[in-house]
Amino acid sequence: MTAASRQEKLAAIFKSAIVIPVLTIERFEDAVPLARALVAGGVRVLEVTLRTPVAADAAKAMISEVPEAIVGIGTILNADDLARAKALGAKFGISPGATPELLKAAAGTDLPFAPGVATASELMQALAAGFDIVKFFPAEQSGGIKALRALAGPFPSIRVCPTGGIGEANAASWLAEPNVVAVGGSWLCPAADIRSGNWAGITAMCARTMKSLKPA
Ligand code: 3PG
Repeated sequence: MTAASRQEKLAAIFKSAIVIPVLTIERFEDAVPLARALVAGGVRVLEVTLRTPVAADAAKAMISEVPEAIVGIGTILNADDLARAKALGAKFGISPGATPELLKAAAGTDLPFAPGVATASELMQALAAGFDIVKFFPAEQSGGIKALRALAGPFPSIRVCPTGGIGEANAASWLAEPNVVAVGGSWLCPAADIRSGNWAGITAMCARTMKSLKPA
């Protein structure tokens, strides 16, 4: 796969998603019902973060048992995490950052990958390594939409998935920005709902969100 086709694959995934829930799964047994609840609410592109001991197994179970879900791996911090994401069959990878080591490893695989950036210098490193689709993180805390617009001045070609501080109240404003292809965040699956198995509540929130954000 060429670098360009890898990037276009990622763009297609993000565009089809509009909203990407950032999932932190504490208990393996929650993985499949959670994925089913999200898909039932119209949210199919899922980011499973490598933040818990069960994360990789949870992602694997989602991939094999919920084929409608498009499962990616988040919180990729280094080349090992990237290799783990690819090995378990993830469709894409996302990182909160953009270290030279990680960018080099990502440029050498065909896994669609979005590095994380919050500054012009990080963005320049990502672009130099061939990554023009980035996670803007932490989006609200780094200056929000004003900061994104400022970055888009010198870098008009970037495509962005902001995450960090995004929720029902501001998702639409972010998505109205011309550079924003999708938004990510944890608000669609609150930890309390996962803990209590409130799958119907998660489905309902997803359905409401998708209805309000999806262009007619
Ligand atoms: C992340 O990768 O942790 C996301 O940015 C989640 O941020 P949120 O909890 O503010 O949605």
